[in-house]
Amino acid sequence: MTAHLEADQVGFAYGRRAVLDAVSFAVAPGELVGVIGPNGAGKTTLVRLLAGVLAPSTGTVRLGGRPLRSYRRRDVARRLAVVPQDAHVQFPFTALEIVLMGRAAHLPRLGFPRARDLAVARAAMERLEVGHLEERPLDHVSGGERQRVLLSRALAQEPDVLLLDEPTTHLDLRHQAGIHEVLRDLVQTRGTAIVSVLHDLNLAAMYCDRLVLLADGRVARMGPPSEVLTADALGSAYRTSVYVGPNAATGSLVVLPRRPAR
Ligand SMILES: Nc1ncnc2c1ncn2[C@@H]1O[C@H](COP(=O)(O)OP(=O)(O)OP(=O)(O)O)[C@@H](O)[C@H]1O
Ligand SMILES: [Mg+2]
Repeated sequence: MTAHLEADQVGFAYGRRAVLDAVSFAVAPGELVGVIGPNGAGKTTLVRLLAGVLAPSTGTVRLGGRPLRSYRRRDVARRLAVVPQDAHVQFPFTALEIVLMGRAAHLPRLGFPRARDLAVARAAMERLEVGHLEERPLDHVSGGERQRVLLSRALAQEPDVLLLDEPTTHLDLRHQAGIHEVLRDLVQTRGTAIVSVLHDLNLAAMYCDRLVLLADGRVARMGPPSEVLTADALGSAYRTSVYVGPNAATGSLVVLPRRPAR
């Protein structure tokens, strides 16, 4: 199995505050790996390290077998796309302009988008049902629409590796499932390697090939959903009582919070 993206014993501290400790995992082409864990566990920090936005204090992140830091920024952007948890867009670009930015790394330097770039951008927007928002400034759309526009930008980048930080936070039920269907399709038809941070453990159970459970900056458990989503592992990572049972409709698992015993 050739790993597209790999964290090897990665540690990180914000100043003196240690946040991640010896985190190792890899995502292969054609695989969707979910990162789960409580608030503050270090998931977003891990995504930033995998994207090369932050540099590890210890250990190495590798893309296609080579240390990420040995790549030029532009070469990373050709291969890896990120949908961050809080994407700030400073200027009132339209949705289409934002999505076209995903094509930047594929253009000649200072080049203008060509017909193919426009077609790729529009196809990505259609796929996420935001085609009708093309002309709309991004600060004039709803939270869920904005999230789908930002995901369109990542798809327009046509990356080998896609990193998503809570891509469904603002989405309604239909679009939560819809986005995950799009992700599964990318994994299956293009062999994209996807790492997605998820709070919804039911979506994680349904759509991910493997899960990494982070707790206090360490990998508490890693493996197929059936091995990671256990009442014990989740109970101690999230420090609360959970119910894990069969999902009669899909054959995957359901995870529900449980009221503490009185
Ligand atoms: N810029 C920063 N400077 C200092 N500490 C930070 C910074 N960003 C995050 N932290 C701390 O690092 C830890 C991990 O944060 P991170 O954002 O990675 O968590 P997370 O797992 O993504 O949480 P959430 O589920 O709430 O998004 C937290 O304790 C957080 O307070
Ligand atoms: Mg986060």
